Amino acid sequence: MKMTLKGFTKGAVALGAMMLIGAPAMAKEFRLGLITPPPHTWTKAAQAFGAELAEKSGGKHSISVFPARQLGNEAQMLQQLQTGALDMAFMTVAEVSNRVPNFGAFYAPYLANDMTHAAAILRSDTAREMLAVLPQETGVVGVGYGSAGMRHILSRGEVKTADDLKGLKLRITPFDPILDFYNLMGAAPTPMPLPAVYDALANGQVDAIDMDVELINVLKYYEHADTLLISNHMMFPMVGLISARVYAGLSDDDKAMISEIMARHVDSTLDVYIAKSPVWEETLNGVGITVKAVDASFFGDVMGKWEDIWAAKAPSLPALRAAAEATK
Ligand code: BEZ
Repeated sequence: MKMTLKGFTKGAVALGAMMLIGAPAMAKEFRLGLITPPPHTWTKAAQAFGAELAEKSGGKHSISVFPARQLGNEAQMLQQLQTGALDMAFMTVAEVSNRVPNFGAFYAPYLANDMTHAAAILRSDTAREMLAVLPQETGVVGVGYGSAGMRHILSRGEVKTADDLKGLKLRITPFDPILDFYNLMGAAPTPMPLPAVYDALANGQVDAIDMDVELINVLKYYEHADTLLISNHMMFPMVGLISARVYAGLSDDDKAMISEIMARHVDSTLDVYIAKSPVWEETLNGVGITVKAVDASFFGDVMGKWEDIWAAKAPSLPALRAAAEATK
């Protein structure tokens, strides 16, 4: 159909007005993508979010959850969110830090002492304020933080001291803060997405993995390992994202309702990891591998060196350190 300039101008004015005052409420089936497998805490939280949204919207809105990278890896999903091809995602902050390095501040080694402390930091005003740049910088709205627990090291063979990590091919999630951490340790960090990890550990393509205790249990990574260092060396935050394009097309009421429900379910994962991390650790004590707790002293002077690299890249680091201090 041919559109006259007059008609186009009227349409553009109407669209502009709609974006200013909020679009009329329209029924929608949202698509939410994540990389975690179906039994994972994030996937369960995404499903619970969908169920509550359907209920609270009186069936007007629904959510189709696509777990296990069905829609692509996180970099691809972030791109789809930017164009509006994907509506929502529960995504690692690691991936967001690939686009906005300031988010690398969350990965300062031993910023958090444990999961309870990590949750308090992620619930701080400082952490929340960091989300404000996301619409301009990556075309997404960040509604709040969740987590996948704390990071530990699972290895084939024995690891007694930090020297034993030197030269080990050690699987990492693909993002720079963790790459720098293991390079500083003298290991050979090997970026690898989650679905490739089990086979890589089983066939010796990697000697060790950087991982959390939920997935070491659920995906049975311990089957091909000898030593688990319970190190808690980094937190591993997640963020609930809505495409900024999709968000702009929502009514004000829908923006408020969807953001509030999504933020609450994302946040609920923090409590899951606080409650369950000790249980998962305990379970791993009984699977026939050596489990050893280590603290910051195990990693020597790596923390200071990491800070030297990231102070310039992540301006929020001092504020996040202050938030960590205040929430101890
Ligand atoms: C990982 O890359 O290790 C990871 C990603 C998402 C959730 C948990 C772990």
